[in-house]
Amino acid sequence: MKEQIIKLLKQALKEKDVELKEEEIEKFLEIPPALEMGDYAFPCFFLAEKLKQEPRQIALEVREKIGTSPLDFEDIQTKGAYINFFVDKKELARQVIKDILKQKETFGKRKKTNKKIMIEFSQANTHKAFHVGHIRGTSLGESLSRVLEFCGDKVIRANYQGDTGMHVAKWIWCYEKYHKKEKLKNDESWIASIYVDAVKKLSKHKTLQKEVNVINQKLFTGEDKQLNSLWEKTRKFSLDSFEKIYKELNTHFDVYFFEGEMEKKGVEIADELLKKKIAKLSEGATIIDLKKYNLGVWVLLRKDKTVLYSAKDVVLAKKKLEEYKTDRNIYVIGAAQSLHIAQLFKTLELMKLPKAKNCEFVPVSEVRLPTGKMSSRTGDNILYSDFIKEITEHTKKEIKKREPKISKAELDKRALKISMAAIKYSMLKQGPNKNIIFKKENALNFQGDTGPYLLYSYARASSILKKSKLKNKQFQIFNLKPKEFELIKKLSQFPEVVLNSYKNLNPSVIANYSYQLAQIFNEFYHACPVINSQQESFRLALMEAFRQILKNSLSLLGIDVLEKM
Ligand code: ARG
Repeated sequence: MKEQIIKLLKQALKEKDVELKEEEIEKFLEIPPALEMGDYAFPCFFLAEKLKQEPRQIALEVREKIGTSPLDFEDIQTKGAYINFFVDKKELARQVIKDILKQKETFGKRKKTNKKIMIEFSQANTHKAFHVGHIRGTSLGESLSRVLEFCGDKVIRANYQGDTGMHVAKWIWCYEKYHKKEKLKNDESWIASIYVDAVKKLSKHKTLQKEVNVINQKLFTGEDKQLNSLWEKTRKFSLDSFEKIYKELNTHFDVYFFEGEMEKKGVEIADELLKKKIAKLSEGATIIDLKKYNLGVWVLLRKDKTVLYSAKDVVLAKKKLEEYKTDRNIYVIGAAQSLHIAQLFKTLELMKLPKAKNCEFVPVSEVRLPTGKMSSRTGDNILYSDFIKEITEHTKKEIKKREPKISKAELDKRALKISMAAIKYSMLKQGPNKNIIFKKENALNFQGDTGPYLLYSYARASSILKKSKLKNKQFQIFNLKPKEFELIKKLSQFPEVVLNSYKNLNPSVIANYSYQLAQIFNEFYHACPVINSQQESFRLALMEAFRQILKNSLSLLGIDVLEKM
């Protein structure tokens, strides 16, 4: 339908000597907020300057050029500067359902763009906990990757794990000094607990930091074989546990960068920046003074020449831009690092790196629990594994209430899927820049704006489809009930919703759409009996289309559907 409107407009505009590409026309086409304004509207303001005419006059003339309303439209009217298209409802229904059922998961998918995009996300640090905040960043990164791919880009999923630096030195120091009698355990909660203990001890006795600095220096030079091997072993423990988590979260990475790999080059870069006079020495440390830009002072190397997070990030950015030749570099990182990222991007600009402008930052705000903030530094955090366990236990209870005889295997499988949907959805339905307070009871509710509600709506549609004896896919359309038409219009909007999420790097648009779609579906189902009704064939097809689009939307959020709840 939209394509037809674009074609009509293109032809009519041509007759007024305005040559516009179809994509350009598409950009201006709007979906009006109220039904009486039609199904699509084309505003003519942007043509005023070019045509040296009043926008409302242009609207009238373009409308005239379109001629009598073609078959698929009930009417085409002008209102002020707008041309409003009222589509033939039955025709729209027929086309939308036909397209969805034919194109299935590719409905709304865009052509290949030839753009290569690197998206860096998750970035947990070894020797520390993978906590609830990491789930948010990971879910967001995965969802954005899927949206970018759906819109035709080539995506490289990158992880950047902090396997060196002061936090690692603290861990090693604490283990060596206080826990050496304990056997090394490949257990994430044990690993996290040592780090938490280190932070506690250091905050009580500030002078101990000197000892940590010595360890940091030794790890940096690699001179102490025993420390190196301790580092290697424990590093691997952490990385292995992260891989298990990624599998469970259904995400993967195409490249892994490590802070450790950036260290040596970090020193070289700092020296180079000194030579170029972008950096300078201050009390022995290498710094970049960015006060001019309101970005404070950025320290690259400490006095003892050990490399900081900042210098490592410059090395990484160069690598991304030069080796991978990406068209866009997206950093999905905690909003707390906004200043650091601004300092990094400014430095890249000062270095006159070609393509420095291709770097983009998606700041991710915090996740808090009703009990308080998450942080792996102070230890008042919740480990990923404990969190998932708590949520799945709760989900299992809910499932058992409904289905007491369920087998254990099925219970485990279903509980994990529902829990994942609950967690991911609650994290993605908010824009990335909004803080989230994660309340288990809310996220797991089978009613309301939640992941389980969406899964439930999907499963409900599946079960009705199964119940029908009609197997013939042909359908006849009678006069549409308002709820039927509302559902059809909503389905037809899916491609635009995805595009919007793509342009704003914000999956919450898709999440909110999924919820509205499920609501309309449930209202439709309430208002319109399906099985044994005269419209059974049509309503089944409509349901099938709904099921497909809900599945597609959830898949872009990284959420798997369930046939049965
Ligand atoms: N590992 C870092 C941290 O936990 C985040 C890394 C973000 N990426 C980057 N290129 N700086 O703080």
